[in-house]
Amino acid sequence: MSILSGKNILLGVTAGIAAYKTAQLTRLFVKAGADVKVVMTPNATDFITPLTLSVLSKNPVFTEFINEDKEKESWNSHVDLGLWADYMLIAPATANTMSKMHQGTADNLLIASYISAKCPVFIAPAMDLDMYKHPSTKESLRILASFGNIIIPAETGELASGLEGKGRMSEPETILAFMENHIKASLALYGKKVLITAGPTYEAIDPVRYIGNHSSGKMGFELAKQAARLGAEVILVSGPSSQNCDNLPIERIDVVSAEQMYKAVFKYYNKVTVAIAAAAVADFKPAEVALQKIKKSEDSLTIKLTPTQDILLEMGKRKKQQFLVGFALETENEVQNAIKKIKKKNLDAIVLNSLQDEGAGFKKDTNKISIIDKSENSFEFNLKSKTEVAEDIFNYIIPKLDA
Ligand code: CTP
Repeated sequence: MSILSGKNILLGVTAGIAAYKTAQLTRLFVKAGADVKVVMTPNATDFITPLTLSVLSKNPVFTEFINEDKEKESWNSHVDLGLWADYMLIAPATANTMSKMHQGTADNLLIASYISAKCPVFIAPAMDLDMYKHPSTKESLRILASFGNIIIPAETGELASGLEGKGRMSEPETILAFMENHIKASLALYGKKVLITAGPTYEAIDPVRYIGNHSSGKMGFELAKQAARLGAEVILVSGPSSQNCDNLPIERIDVVSAEQMYKAVFKYYNKVTVAIAAAAVADFKPAEVALQKIKKSEDSLTIKLTPTQDILLEMGKRKKQQFLVGFALETENEVQNAIKKIKKKNLDAIVLNSLQDEGAGFKKDTNKISIIDKSENSFEFNLKSKTEVAEDIFNYIIPKLDA
């Protein structure tokens, strides 16, 4: 799957002969699974029609601040376009547009969208060789790169003027590969496998009853989503949970019992770089599961329980390259108990949930954690949304992977 799959790409087309290549470029982005919107400078429409790019992108094409359909009198918002984009590409980028981009001359919708965009912006310049060599062009490219824009270098070859030299816009396939490689390289977990357990487990008593707990799975799902955003190949083994993965590329394996979670985890564990056990696994299960629904024929009922397998303990025993992180929920002697768990389960670190704080714990959208490592260093974090907590946890883990 392309790293651009599911991403929003804003393609800015300016008035250069290479604009004809944007038809192919749009097709390649759509084939890669991206949602493409095109914004053109008014003069670019002399080189390729908005209709062509609209049909290929399956979206309306924007050329003016005001919608030309006078009856609707609507405003094409550059801010909306800029914020919508996960990536912006300006191809071809003429000397004129690049000069306006670095000076902030927002006299057309394309440049206004560029200035409003918060996402990474790629620029594929295209012009005649003497224009490309001119100090003003070199200065534009230098300044635009210093703003953090990513320049896709022009290629050498035959130019539309008939001259030979540097200035040709890169071929669409080269632009696509350049963007994919750049994005992958900038993702901290690209090429790494991450395994996460989440949610509760349900241990059957009879066909209709079970022993469970209040875990919503939210923390584990947020961890899985953050790992996917960072480019990892994510395997999420989850007990019953109503959470979802927001269309991110996550391999979700739904299980019910601790035994099923155990089996699913060890199908993948050997190959992963990071494993995080965020599941609230039941510690005990009924020794026997009644085949029929238990009738209330007696005054009292005793159910004999036996321990479930400790999945994290087993992960610790089998640990090789894995950076292994557990969760702990303690009500007393929090830090000492967490440290004991690190040692007992052979962990690299443990995330300690504090139940002392309002807003933290089961079914909440927020959490307050500290991370304790195997050298007993402790890092404390404020009460935050579980999405932010997941970011903090990976910000902690990532530097350790290369250390
Ligand atoms: N865990 C697990 N499998 C189990 C029980 C727990 O993988 N059968 C994992 C949890 O996902 C969590 C960590 O172990 O990451 C801590 O679990 P916890 O139940 O708090 O620890 P225990 O070792 O069971 O100790 P205690 O209940 O006595 O605090």
